Amino acid sequence: MIISPSVLSLDYRDTKQQLAVLSQSKAQWLHFDVMDGHFVPNLSFGPDILKAFKKSCDLFMDVHIMVSDPEYYSEVFIKAGADLLTFHYEAIDPNKIEKLVTKIHSLNAKAGIAIKPKTSLDVLKPYLHLFDLVLVMSVEPGFGGQSFDETALAKIAALRELKLANGYDYLIEVDGGINEKTGAQCKEHGVDVLVAGSYVFKNDIIKAVESLC
Ligand code: DX5
Ligand code: ZN
Repeated sequence: MIISPSVLSLDYRDTKQQLAVLSQSKAQWLHFDVMDGHFVPNLSFGPDILKAFKKSCDLFMDVHIMVSDPEYYSEVFIKAGADLLTFHYEAIDPNKIEKLVTKIHSLNAKAGIAIKPKTSLDVLKPYLHLFDLVLVMSVEPGFGGQSFDETALAKIAALRELKLANGYDYLIEVDGGINEKTGAQCKEHGVDVLVAGSYVFKNDIIKAVESLC
């Protein structure tokens, strides 16, 4: 299981110390949420903040862009240090998905696609072969600290089946409301990557990460 703590819930007064603790934990990735105040009703971080995180730790940078213009911002955040760039299906003209994935790969990053809780998995079926990761949102994107939406479980199980049946390579990631209990449910349904914000940073970081593994 890959654990990707979300910096959205980090205590920014103490960023350096919290990153130092994280690097001692079993977390392999760092989840970096980009919000533009338009695709979602919240603002978060720009590329300079990602550069600072990149310099401050050795974790794999898992960048989730919740923005209305993924074509523009994918390149901006890859140049700032994203190892994986995940954009939203709801934010792009489906005819432009393949071109954007090609661009992301040409910039030497992995490509992920995310769907909101109310979006059917069916819409992704024509594109699944293109991606390194599929992100199932288990809360409405925009804020940390919300409750897990159980409709994510069926999507995780279906993605797992589609992957096995078709020989796809993508990892399955879930984001929103993950704690020890919901993390275990996702694991039972076949998830590969757990994103957790408030559960990790509002508890003992090392123990919380360990409990998700
Ligand atoms: C929500 C973000 C999440 C958020 C998860 O839009 O994409 O990554 O940080 O926070 P928790 O784990 O607190 O639900
Ligand atoms: Zn996220």
